[in-house]
Amino acid sequence: MRVLVLLDCVGDPRPRFETAAGEAGIDGLRVEVIPNATELSGDELASRVAGAEALVTPLTLKVDDRLLEAAGPALRVVANYAVGFDNIDVAACTRRNVTVCNGPPPMTEPTADLAWTLLLGAIRRVREGLSLATSGNWAGYDAGLLLGHRLVGGTLLVVGAGRIGSAVARRSLGWDMRVLYTARSAKPHLESDPIGATRTSLEEGLSLADAVVVTTALTPETRHLIDAAALAAMKRTAVLVNVSRGPVVDEAALAEALADGSIFAAGLDVYEHEPRIHADLVDLPNALLLPHIASATVEDRTDLTGICVENVISVLAGREPRFSVSAPPGT
Ligand code: GLV
Repeated sequence: MRVLVLLDCVGDPRPRFETAAGEAGIDGLRVEVIPNATELSGDELASRVAGAEALVTPLTLKVDDRLLEAAGPALRVVANYAVGFDNIDVAACTRRNVTVCNGPPPMTEPTADLAWTLLLGAIRRVREGLSLATSGNWAGYDAGLLLGHRLVGGTLLVVGAGRIGSAVARRSLGWDMRVLYTARSAKPHLESDPIGATRTSLEEGLSLADAVVVTTALTPETRHLIDAAALAAMKRTAVLVNVSRGPVVDEAALAEALADGSIFAAGLDVYEHEPRIHADLVDLPNALLLPHIASATVEDRTDLTGICVENVISVLAGREPRFSVSAPPGT
């Protein structure tokens, strides 16, 4: 059996595969790591994946019919090294009896931490503060310098509250915030004590929130969910944070809203066309920008490697994997 790991995971997956395969009674597992798979030409990649039983994939690799065709009928599992799986055509995998897996648990808390890093950094003007402090032009304490807005006691809107959104909401307890959320289904664990959140429509939530944190998955329905109209519905003092996927926010519309002051600031970790960032956003002082690092801790990414190994071995051993996914509605 051949497993192809198409990225440089944190923590070598090979010894983990060896141990897990041994425990599952799988003999002769060959694990090949191709750290630069996304840089290969389509033809090179196609020839490397041919005949593989399992692929471990980065979120930057498109797993579509073409790749599945190249892999061939032996392929049984694609384990995405991520919680999001919008890079994978899950319906195409399902048609070919290929199980798709992801790894939610280790991604939840670090991503919520980074959402709060961006939220606090944006509302307290950290980008401008950093550049002033290191510019040599700081003239000293000034009572009116770089005034932000108060977050304590304000309203937080979590857009698309799942695991990560819930962890974002939980952190707001320290800021004594009213929590609103949007989700496809009600979340009793958010509505009960101590968070006491209220489910709302996007329109209403946007008009009430001081902080809007986007954690929804990218699907055809959520592409440009935060568009010019949504931004216009927000308070001028409010902050937008996106830690989900770039295309959920219309970047051109956001750049305009930030430039004309129709919202106060934004904190972004993800972009519509990574690694490109919309040119109009790059120089805006009220845009706090990070390079898709929300889950980037040694511990969590190492745990993710372990989950990918576990997912692959479960499927190859004929067991139900702990973290399989199905095609989102609308795909
Ligand atoms: C990161 O963006 C992930 O989906 O895990």
